[in-house]
Amino acid sequence: MASNSKPQFFLFSSLLILLPILSSGSLNTVTGHGFSIEEASVHDIQLAFKQNQLTSRQLVEFYQKQIHRLNPILKGVIEVNPEALHLADKADSERKSKAPGSLSGLHGIPILLKDNIATKDKLNTTAGSYALLGSVVPRDAGVVTKLRKAGAIIIGKASLSEWSQFRSFYVPNGWSGRGGQGKNPYVLSADPCGSSSGSAISVAANLVAVSLGSETDGSIICPSSSNSVVGIKPTIGLTSRSGVVPISPRQDTIGPICRTISDAVYVLDEIVGLDYNDKATIKASKYIPHGGYKQFLKVNGLKGKRLGIVRKPFYNFGNDTFLKKIFAQHLDTLRQESAILVDNLEIANIDVILNIGTSEMTALIIEFKQALNKYLKELVASPVRTLADAIAFNKKFSDLEKIKEYKQNLFLEAQATNGSSNKEKTALQDMARLTRDGFVKLMIKHNLHALVTPYLGPYGVSVTSVLAIGGFPGISVPAGYDSKGVPFGICFGGLKGSEPKLIEISYGFEQATKIRKPPSFKP
Ligand SMILES: *[C@@H]1O[C@H](CO)[C@@H](O)[C@H](O)[C@H]1NC(C)=O
Ligand SMILES: *[C@@H]1O[C@H](CO)[C@@H](O)[C@H](O)[C@H]1NC(C)=O
Ligand SMILES: *[C@@H]1O[C@H](CO)[C@@H](O)[C@H](O)[C@H]1NC(C)=O
Repeated sequence: MASNSKPQFFLFSSLLILLPILSSGSLNTVTGHGFSIEEASVHDIQLAFKQNQLTSRQLVEFYQKQIHRLNPILKGVIEVNPEALHLADKADSERKSKAPGSLSGLHGIPILLKDNIATKDKLNTTAGSYALLGSVVPRDAGVVTKLRKAGAIIIGKASLSEWSQFRSFYVPNGWSGRGGQGKNPYVLSADPCGSSSGSAISVAANLVAVSLGSETDGSIICPSSSNSVVGIKPTIGLTSRSGVVPISPRQDTIGPICRTISDAVYVLDEIVGLDYNDKATIKASKYIPHGGYKQFLKVNGLKGKRLGIVRKPFYNFGNDTFLKKIFAQHLDTLRQESAILVDNLEIANIDVILNIGTSEMTALIIEFKQALNKYLKELVASPVRTLADAIAFNKKFSDLEKIKEYKQNLFLEAQATNGSSNKEKTALQDMARLTRDGFVKLMIKHNLHALVTPYLGPYGVSVTSVLAIGGFPGISVPAGYDSKGVPFGICFGGLKGSEPKLIEISYGFEQATKIRKPPSFKP
């Protein structure tokens, strides 16, 4: 969940001491063969591997140095994998012995995983909470099994809003007991959004090549926009949720957070597909295109695409003439790239959908208790075995987590539910109706490939609930920086299985605008 609660910023004294480090220029990122790792794309890296300009060991060493240097301030990473160099050496020797072209697009590439994604290795999986420290997972998460098979190197775990923001909306975005307060690398005092904050922070600041986040409502799209990176929130079931600390099996989805659409697509290609530990992947596998997603990285991807514009409430910039101008320019760019803009549309009952206090929250609260208890029960060992245990843990160890006022109101509300009830049934029916009469009707009636909305971070009007309650995919692309230098994004959302079109559209937009720039760590 991404939280829309009021911003709460914490300026730790360490920040002031370490600020000079941030402005002291970048590490020597160039290998002996003249390859620069900073900002390198997966494609660049694979090419450098092939031409013997780079090894996986050099990559891992570079990112470990970056983490060592920047993470004390940014707090995007919770744990570094002590086996990463060993895995890199293994990848390097495989590259020498195997036929060129036989290795996956992620082979030898370091990836950071949100700390709710289980790995059966030396890394802990804790959703940022001390309550899960020392827990032993039964197996790798479904997406991790696929990543390992593809030869990716799990370099560590990313910080997040604790329990993916489902402990309490009062917990600031990017804060967790174990991870501390994650920082926006563009403007350190700005909100990094959440809950996949560490994944977005870390790729933005070149602490890693690529990352994975998870979203229930906004948790990939929002931090991606706030940290000027790309996030893909896949159709529900396209990627397995097994072995991921859950909120709701109905809305949870796992997706890439990367610096570019191309990088995100390289990751998506490796994590989609069947996993018998998550039944939803069986139904959704029909959406996976033959030949994967890379074929949709087309520079002219916007050509002929029908894009819907819902002005109210998404393009309401008040008196902010800067934002008004930027998004008018973006719409012009889309037109120039030969997209067809269908303007002044409406989504029926949009006010009801965006009011998170209604049916969505009612259902999530009930589903969370059931799903979390199931996850905890399946652990091989754990300090907490139920949501009730986790609540008791938070009460007992609030000192350990330093900040007592970060309550656990969502935990308590969930604990008070009684499993599936008429209330839940009504909520599910409400959401199905709102989706059918709203987004689906609009998309079909106007024959749209995507809905385009500005994504102005945690305090703007967000389209994510529209996508969340229907299980629909969305892609966030960097769209600009405000007068203080805080990034914002643009979101392309579509019907289930529309990833190929969304990739064409968002890649077309990214290539036409090239807005992302590396962070400058302003205070
Ligand atoms: C995992 O947690 C344990 C404490 O339970 C700690 O000793 C260990 O270093 C952690 N693993 C990593 C990779 O940080
Ligand atoms: C914009 O409107 C807000 C209130 O809606 C006001 O506080 C602010 O001063 C206005 N800014 C400008 C530049 O007019
Ligand atoms: C759960 O059930 C108990 C007893 O059956 C009842 O008192 C309580 O109000 C119920 N809670 C909710 C949230 O429905």
